[in-house]
Amino acid sequence: MLKDKNIVVGVTGGIAAYKAVDVVSRLIKKGANIDVIMTKSATKFVTPLTFQSLSQNFVTVDMFDEPKKWEVEHISLAQKADLFLIVPATANIIGKVACGIADDMLSTTIMATNSKVIFAPAMNTQMFRNPLFKQNMDKLKDLGYEFIKTDTGRLACGDIGEGKLAQPEIIVDYVEKSFIKDSKLKDKKVLITAGPTMQAIDPVRYITNHSSGKMGYSLAKSAKDKGANVTLISGPTNLKAPKGVNVINVKTTEEMFEAVDSHFEDCDILIKAAAPLDYRPEKVSKNKIKKKSSKLELKLVKNIDIAAHFGKLKEKQKIIGFAAETDNIVNNSKKKLKAKNFDMIIVNDVSKKDAGFKSDTNIVTIVDKNLNEESFPKMKKEELSELIIDKVSKLI
Ligand SMILES: Cc1cc2nc3c(=O)[nH]c(=O)nc-3n(C[C@H](O)[C@H](O)[C@H](O)COP(=O)(O)O)c2cc1C
Repeated sequence: MLKDKNIVVGVTGGIAAYKAVDVVSRLIKKGANIDVIMTKSATKFVTPLTFQSLSQNFVTVDMFDEPKKWEVEHISLAQKADLFLIVPATANIIGKVACGIADDMLSTTIMATNSKVIFAPAMNTQMFRNPLFKQNMDKLKDLGYEFIKTDTGRLACGDIGEGKLAQPEIIVDYVEKSFIKDSKLKDKKVLITAGPTMQAIDPVRYITNHSSGKMGYSLAKSAKDKGANVTLISGPTNLKAPKGVNVINVKTTEEMFEAVDSHFEDCDILIKAAAPLDYRPEKVSKNKIKKKSSKLELKLVKNIDIAAHFGKLKEKQKIIGFAAETDNIVNNSKKKLKAKNFDMIIVNDVSKKDAGFKSDTNIVTIVDKNLNEESFPKMKKEELSELIIDKVSKLI
């Protein structure tokens, strides 16, 4: 969820500074890129080297340090940040920001940013109850700065009461949710089809294809993580449904069509990652077909083209399709995009190793509605689904 998000973590001089190490470590594990700015007081509690080793980025303390590359550091960090998190936030930094004071690297960078700033305060209970602190916090809240609620409990100074730093997992959860809150996909209704379909020949035999459903399931998770309300219409797969996703299991192409039909009008986005069978046996034998002659002919009839059907019907909805091609891949896909009225098509070159149906990776070209194409190197399906969902959210 935090993949490729640039978060600037400000660490100030409180006893809870050591907990910022845990917070930074958790954010990094979730894929965020972290730049740490420490106040001078913070370095009395934890060393910059700790954060530098964890984040693998240079830690800034002094505004007048020789910059590592030539740029005005407080401005470049202020612009780069998707979000600022001050953890722990002392009464001092909150007071300084509330009064527009910019006398060190952290307060100056906060002053220079347009990004969201979140404070995770931590201080002695009496400091926390001090009306000056409350006024500063309320003033900042009115201006759109956010505060993570402190815990109540035993503080390092021995007091029992408010002002204890929120637990690291609560802080990280707050950060994740704030990206969801700002996500264009928040509360959007996203319908995703995944996997193959199967069509019976007789009570014991059926035809199907090699689709594993991995791409569709991964897309469902990515869209859910971005705050979308996701319905996954899945053909038979061995995959576990992502948490929080509404799953409708289907077998045949007709059932997949019916399920899409009953949700389409209401949805904002339809992602067609399934590989429904284009043909089905004309007749399904009631009894098991006996092994009699050396040749058995199976007559197939065409199934409904789900993508084309909803492409014609669409009004407000955006439709994203997939194409598995082996030759002339981009041109064929451009034709498919036009014919099916898609807003975007993701083209798999299934002739390549490590791409397509059963693989955990994929090699794709993405073509947009204006037929602009962008090719990507081999990627894990989870990474690719993040990228696709990011592009989808830009369509809204
Ligand atoms: C041992 C010790 C613990 C401290 N803990 C806190 C704290 O938890 N919260 C706080 O607001 N100030 C705390 N202070 C006071 C701050 O360090 C002090 O206000 C300092 O000026 C903050 O500077 P900064 O905001 O630039 O980091 C503590 C000071 C000491 C010596």
